[in-house]
Amino acid sequence: MKRRIVITRGIFPEVAEALSQRFDVVHNEEDRPWPPGELAAQMAGASGAMATVMDKFDEPLLARCPDLKVISNIAVGFNNIDVAACTKRGIRVTNTPGVLDDTTADLTWSLLMAAARRIAEADAYVRRGDWKIAFGVQYFLGQDIHHATLGIIGMGRIGQAVARRARGFDMRVLYHNRTRLSAEDEKRIGANYVERDALLARADFVVVMAPYSQATHHLIGAAEIAKMKPTAILVNSARGGVVDDAALVQALKEKRIAGAGLDVFEGEPKLNAEYAKLANVVLTPHIGSASRATRIVMCNTAAANMSAVLEGREPPNPVN
Ligand code: DGY
Repeated sequence: MKRRIVITRGIFPEVAEALSQRFDVVHNEEDRPWPPGELAAQMAGASGAMATVMDKFDEPLLARCPDLKVISNIAVGFNNIDVAACTKRGIRVTNTPGVLDDTTADLTWSLLMAAARRIAEADAYVRRGDWKIAFGVQYFLGQDIHHATLGIIGMGRIGQAVARRARGFDMRVLYHNRTRLSAEDEKRIGANYVERDALLARADFVVVMAPYSQATHHLIGAAEIAKMKPTAILVNSARGGVVDDAALVQALKEKRIAGAGLDVFEGEPKLNAEYAKLANVVLTPHIGSASRATRIVMCNTAAANMSAVLEGREPPNPVN
């Protein structure tokens, strides 16, 4: 008898089809996130779950899934899963590291450039029909990116991919990370390690690339923003909650920094309503890894992790 697996959101049909050759697949093709009760009901008797960051696998849910052997997240992040509780219950957790670094770095740069050059604001202006005089010396003045200083907080694979892209803009790159990179890696990437406060004070662009955890909750709050230059731009494409949204809204309102580019938010998809009223912030809906090619690879990676565990092999990307 085929084992039951649950794919919690709409994925590419060919990946679901390939899984259905080996497993009894329940696929949420409607792509509407199941509320916790419905997720628990769908999980009854399931050996595996292929999940997204929207699906909270906490202890109460795990307690209702006695047959569960693996949660395969279609994401590099896994803060939606209580990994310690899974480990206690003998449930393997897997993720999709490595395959989305460049795509997420590209989006990070898109936000940085859009915020620096006020692209969303200018686009809205043209669409509204407000563009009446062809050229203005002082139209939409923004910040230069070339030769500026980029500060990256969180220098894992994606942070490093963001840093590499700075070369084309002749930027200085500063970084802060829990552990310092080797001198060889720093040289290869062209980034200099500094303390966090020094980075905040010196960077023209502060990019946050730290994963979310208790330790990184509100890593950037009012006190940190106060250390940034008034001309600086903050970019967060890592996780909601790493930046204190209320503090950032206040700073943007008071123009204490020049702008922000954000792909992730606390409590998403609910947005701090004030963001939408501000011209100096560019907002995207958690699309860091959303290129077709990368999302297909992420789904295939998650499928490979799932199959490995259920077929008694070591998964390629274990979290626990
Ligand atoms: C990730 O991979 O963690 C992205 O944020 C998508 O969830």
